[in-house]
Amino acid sequence: MSDPYKPLKDAFSRFATGVALAGCVGPDGKPVAITVNSFASVSLAPPLVLWCIERRTSSFPAFMRADSYSINVLRADQQHLSERYALRAPEPFAPEEYEIWETGAPVLKDCLAAFDCRVVSRHEAGDHVIMVAEVLKFRAAAGRPLLYFARRYATGPEIEE
Ligand SMILES: Cc1cc2nc3c(=O)[nH]c(=O)nc-3n(C[C@H](O)[C@H](O)[C@H](O)COP(=O)(O)O)c2cc1C
Repeated sequence: MSDPYKPLKDAFSRFATGVALAGCVGPDGKPVAITVNSFASVSLAPPLVLWCIERRTSSFPAFMRADSYSINVLRADQQHLSERYALRAPEPFAPEEYEIWETGAPVLKDCLAAFDCRVVSRHEAGDHVIMVAEVLKFRAAAGRPLLYFARRYATGPEIEE
């Protein structure tokens, strides 16, 4: 059966993005992560960001319950992490892969940039919920970004620290 949304999805996919993992603490205390490309910076003062979560993803209840989340921007050599956290019920981050900063959300130790965020509002938006949060702490590193365009991965230019 053909997908009635394919033309719209094809048009949306012309917008090239980076790729990040959003992370939070699940109800069982374990880290939960999901691959996202809907991340956007919103405001500098106060520092606000957003991303959108699809209602039917299995991590939806965890992100609705959590009062904080991390955004972990992936490097080009971390495509395997994007693939892993786009799967149903992936292995949670291993203890040596993440650290806790201010909010309690799991922050990937090794990535291009990381933001530790406290949720300030959630907005209903069709089959997604927009998650707006304040950045309490962040870090940026050197490297090449993982990009996503027309359902394919690509490598962006090198940035120095
Ligand atoms: C590059 C990429 C970007 C994605 N961006 C989002 C996103 O912004 N929001 C979202 O809810 N799902 C996004 N997804 C899909 C989720 O990663 C995927 O649906 C989820 O991890 C699957 O979980 P589930 O099968 O356990 O429900 C993206 C997937 C990929 C590969």
